[in-house]
Amino acid sequence: MMKRWQAVKRLLPLLAVFSLLLSGCGREDLSVLRPQGPVAEGQLDLIKLSISIMLVVIIVVFAIATYVLIKFRRKPGQNEVPEQVEGNFKLEIIWTAIPLLLVLVLAVPTIQKVFAYGENNWNDEGVVQVRVIGHQFWWEFEYPQYEVKTAQEMLIPVDKEIALELKTADVLHSFWVPSLAGKMDTNTDGSVNNMSISTPNEGTYIGKCAELCGASHGFMEFRVKAVDQESFDQWVEAMKAPAVLPEDTQLAEKFKNNCLTCHAVGDQGGFSGPNLTGMGSRETVAGILLNDTTGEEGSKPAKDNLVEWLSDPEGVKPGNLMPHPKELGFSDEEIEQIAEYLANYKLEY
Ligand code: CUA
Repeated sequence: MMKRWQAVKRLLPLLAVFSLLLSGCGREDLSVLRPQGPVAEGQLDLIKLSISIMLVVIIVVFAIATYVLIKFRRKPGQNEVPEQVEGNFKLEIIWTAIPLLLVLVLAVPTIQKVFAYGENNWNDEGVVQVRVIGHQFWWEFEYPQYEVKTAQEMLIPVDKEIALELKTADVLHSFWVPSLAGKMDTNTDGSVNNMSISTPNEGTYIGKCAELCGASHGFMEFRVKAVDQESFDQWVEAMKAPAVLPEDTQLAEKFKNNCLTCHAVGDQGGFSGPNLTGMGSRETVAGILLNDTTGEEGSKPAKDNLVEWLSDPEGVKPGNLMPHPKELGFSDEEIEQIAEYLANYKLEY
């Protein structure tokens, strides 16, 4: 009894570590178990089907094993070799046929759904087209029907089919919004992957890059924000409005000459870096620093997050391609001012 308790005691730290690890999986909006749209629901059905089949197999196999262990155990005084059933034709047929049948039951709906969910409905009527482009280490979302590009936060109207076209600007990434749909790669050979998502529920759904793509793969987070049609239309209008630049003309000039060579605001700037239009309305800075509008643990005002990012981009996202603002000649004070300007750059929708 004493010994057994000691063994349990030795296992306790291990249990603690496991529960700690599992608690890391507790983000509700990052779970395939809480589907928010038809694709994720269909995929959860597949998970349930395979788990049910496996449960039945486990129960039956363990029941038979237990029965055999008890029934055919060696009795006292029993010395002869028991009857051998090796090569029993009937048994061999049974344990080949049953697993085959189970694999078929699993395969038919799985293959059906794999093809259905990967179908190209880019040109279907009434869809909202979104071109998703993975970059090290951020996501670009282009809406060709509206001539709008944004980054890190993909706005979608509820109850609409969103047709996605997935590409990469550099290496292999994988687009994954657990509560809306399974993963889809962004291929490096120039080929395009298609899928579609939709949701009847307004809300914010967290997405992740699901393919190890470099130093900051783990920080390549993004959000899908589902809003009503009216808000979506307003957002499109606001995205297309003329750029708002810093009020201070000297700062505006510096911002244009340095930041806007890669980034864009409104109708100005370039597109090799994330679009910054309406930064103040986003829930994160760089996809990973949470703004206080999320109400999530560890969130901070957008301005503080922007200062943190601009003061040390490498510290927030190792391996990112943005030149350090200080190396571009921005002083601490100017970084502060840029952060203030971007945090106040909000979109009405
Ligand atoms: Cu992109 Cu991992």
